[in-house]
Amino acid sequence: MYEKSLIIIKPDGVQRSLVGTVINRFENAGLKIHAMKLQNVAAEQSKKHYSEHVGKAFYPTVEEYITSGPVMVFVLGGVSAIKKIRAMVGATEPASALPGTIRGDFAHQSYPAPGEPDDKPIRNLIHASATPDEAAAEIAIWFSEDELVDYDKVTDQQVSFK
Ligand code: CDP
Ligand code: MG
Repeated sequence: MYEKSLIIIKPDGVQRSLVGTVINRFENAGLKIHAMKLQNVAAEQSKKHYSEHVGKAFYPTVEEYITSGPVMVFVLGGVSAIKKIRAMVGATEPASALPGTIRGDFAHQSYPAPGEPDDKPIRNLIHASATPDEAAAEIAIWFSEDELVDYDKVTDQQVSFK
């Protein structure tokens, strides 16, 4: 089934000039860009986006992280796109994210160091919707309907190589 997913390159990804590298991976995988914008994130927007985490002990650090600088937010589409993109993104904790995934290749962090309090956000470079319900809710939080562009690409066509 054709699905759309909401992706955010978080402030560390923008600061480290990894926007092109990350988007290149998704385009190479055949995913279609439906919308894209660079923006700062207000605390209110963070609370909407992370509504399932507001109230958890780690939430304040996550809000501090996502509001710390501009993010690149976009919508990608493709067959089974949500699962495919999550596989490309990798596990939440960079230290556990497999090599070859975006988090595994670019987001490794060395803190908190042993003995340090675990009071820092997990800076893992990228967000991607986890389920179809989450994707629908997140796309509506970040984009209005008229900002989503539907179009055909040449690679959408069935061709014969006879
Ligand atoms: O992003 P993902 O869906 O993989 O993970 P999540 O469990 O939905 O958590 C959302 C985000 O909150 C993570 O990507 C981390 O940046 C952050 N987080 C954190 O800083 N500390 C935690 N203990 C859990 C999540
Ligand atoms: Mg999540």
